Amino acid sequence: MRTARLIVAGYGKIGKAFISTLEGKASRLRDLGYDLKVVAVCEKAGSVVDADGIDLKRLLDGKVRWGKAKTLDVIRDVDADIVLELTPGNVNTGEPGLGHIRAALNGGRHVVTSNKSPLVLDYAGLDGLAGKRGVKLKIEATVGGAIPVINTCLNELKCNGIRNIYGILNGTTNYILSKMAEEGVDFQSALAEAQSLGLAEPDPSYDIEGVDTAAKVVILANAVLEGNVKLRDIRVEGIDSVTAEAVELAKEHGFVVKLVGDVAGRRVGPRLVPVDHPLNVSGSLNAILVETDVAGDITLTGAGAGPRETSSALLGDVLEVLDAVRAS
Ligand code: HSE
Repeated sequence: MRTARLIVAGYGKIGKAFISTLEGKASRLRDLGYDLKVVAVCEKAGSVVDADGIDLKRLLDGKVRWGKAKTLDVIRDVDADIVLELTPGNVNTGEPGLGHIRAALNGGRHVVTSNKSPLVLDYAGLDGLAGKRGVKLKIEATVGGAIPVINTCLNELKCNGIRNIYGILNGTTNYILSKMAEEGVDFQSALAEAQSLGLAEPDPSYDIEGVDTAAKVVILANAVLEGNVKLRDIRVEGIDSVTAEAVELAKEHGFVVKLVGDVAGRRVGPRLVPVDHPLNVSGSLNAILVETDVAGDITLTGAGAGPRETSSALLGDVLEVLDAVRAS
């Protein structure tokens, strides 16, 4: 059995979805030889801590008692192997996630995160700190929701030179553009639908103005293409200027308008994509094209946003940490 005690920092949409997936997959995980125990769950207002493992069903049903312990204190003081950092991001400060991740790594705990902002601000520093402490920093859930793009590039494609990665990296804007093109829905109504599905960032202007896509471009540039790229290096244009008329005109000529992030080109902006191109995916799907020297082009498509889908990437990273620790 590979055992691990988890601290879950952040109990919003993603945190709840992760706990729900963990609870729902308990017997499958046992069959696969993993024994995962959640010893603490934290949010802004306080924490639940139980060294014997929290009853996840009672937690999800709101039947456990929350204490006052602060997330940073829990990360420092509670005995655990892996910290899941799932708080909402702020691309200007990276906080509170940056502090949580630094504390966890400094304490010798592995980190699995869906939080883009700390990585956008200090990928090199955090990756270096993880290396120095001999622990893993796993970030699959930060890009492309459920799509295993980072792990595919770093593991399965590692003998390849990766020339570029580009594509649709934001579910909210793809949802809006698809609804406008396919159903003639207006921009604001499509955005409201994306928000109600839990796709959009807490501040949806991050999605609309292309900042979320740019954050993912920075992460891919640094984690996969080994650049030293900052958010300010990316030329960013959002979809706020895309009109219903432009979407209709594109359609008449056999194109769709998509918000495309281009890692090697260091830019984000609306692009015309031919209707029969692999990047033409609908709804909240993402499509990511990886250009390699040996394998050629590989396109990965799937749910790019959504709490439940993102929990697949998180749980996959937790299991990868345990496999790596066992193998070493
Ligand atoms: N708001 C993001 C999106 C969530 O719509 O893609 C996933 O990073």
